[in-house]
Amino acid sequence: MSSSKPTALEVKSYPVWDKPTRLFHWINVILVLALILVGGIMMYRTELGITELTGKIGLKTLHVWIGYAFAINLIIRLVWGFVGNKYARFSHMFPNANSKNELMTYKSELAAGKNPQYLGHNPKGKFAVLGIMLLLVTIMVTGLLRAGTDIYYPPLGSAVQSYLADTNVDPASLKPYDATGVNTEKADALKPLKGLAGEVHVYAVYLLLLLILLHVFAVVYTEVKRQPGIISAMFSGKKIIQGQPKDE
Ligand code: HEM
Repeated sequence: MSSSKPTALEVKSYPVWDKPTRLFHWINVILVLALILVGGIMMYRTELGITELTGKIGLKTLHVWIGYAFAINLIIRLVWGFVGNKYARFSHMFPNANSKNELMTYKSELAAGKNPQYLGHNPKGKFAVLGIMLLLVTIMVTGLLRAGTDIYYPPLGSAVQSYLADTNVDPASLKPYDATGVNTEKADALKPLKGLAGEVHVYAVYLLLLLILLHVFAVVYTEVKRQPGIISAMFSGKKIIQGQPKDE
């Protein structure tokens, strides 16, 4: 790669997505699909014939273990958003004060039949990526809250058990979906938080599904119609671009 600006016809390869960004992306895809599958089975477990309490708790436990892997992957990416390469950083990939102008220029260039090329996300993509990241964080926080209040799993499980245990009851003896040793007043006081976390979790998942569909549609459309190679770039890390990229 030379340091001079490429001419309109020159084709150059640029290193864009660094390894941690690519790893996060594909690990996240696999874990989100697995969580949707197990979460979906949890929602329809009665229809699927899973009626025993052990089956219900087993599914939740499996979901939470996959959820931990998802949370660790996401937290690493959140740190990488501050220390990764230029295109991995949130300062570059999220919308900023210039985004409104960039979006208008992008739209008018497309309307004029031009084909602006981007190394990072295009101006529309920046909004989609911000939305997806905010939803992933919301789902992680509410999932962890729910893991603690519903099946007493870390990081909040022991604190919830200590809060709920009746006088002279060992908090560690409290079992999920078993009222033995539980102070009913405290359990009632916890219900609104538990319920809210569960509702926000599920509605954020519905919104995420919508954004994932839009994201996949937009990426395939852009690959075919505007900027070939953006999908393979998430495997190789490199974008091959003709002419001058807008965001080098
Ligand atoms: C994108 C990632 C995730 C997706 C798509 C997802 C999906 C779902 C779905 C569809 C449900 C509803 C099941 C039901 O109503 O019975 C659910 C519930 C639950 N999720 Fe997740 N989840 C994700 C991440 C997490 C994480 C990171 C954790 C925590 C480690 C977690 C913990 C839970 C728990 C404890 C429940 C049970 C809540 C209840 O019984 O109401 N989830 N999840």
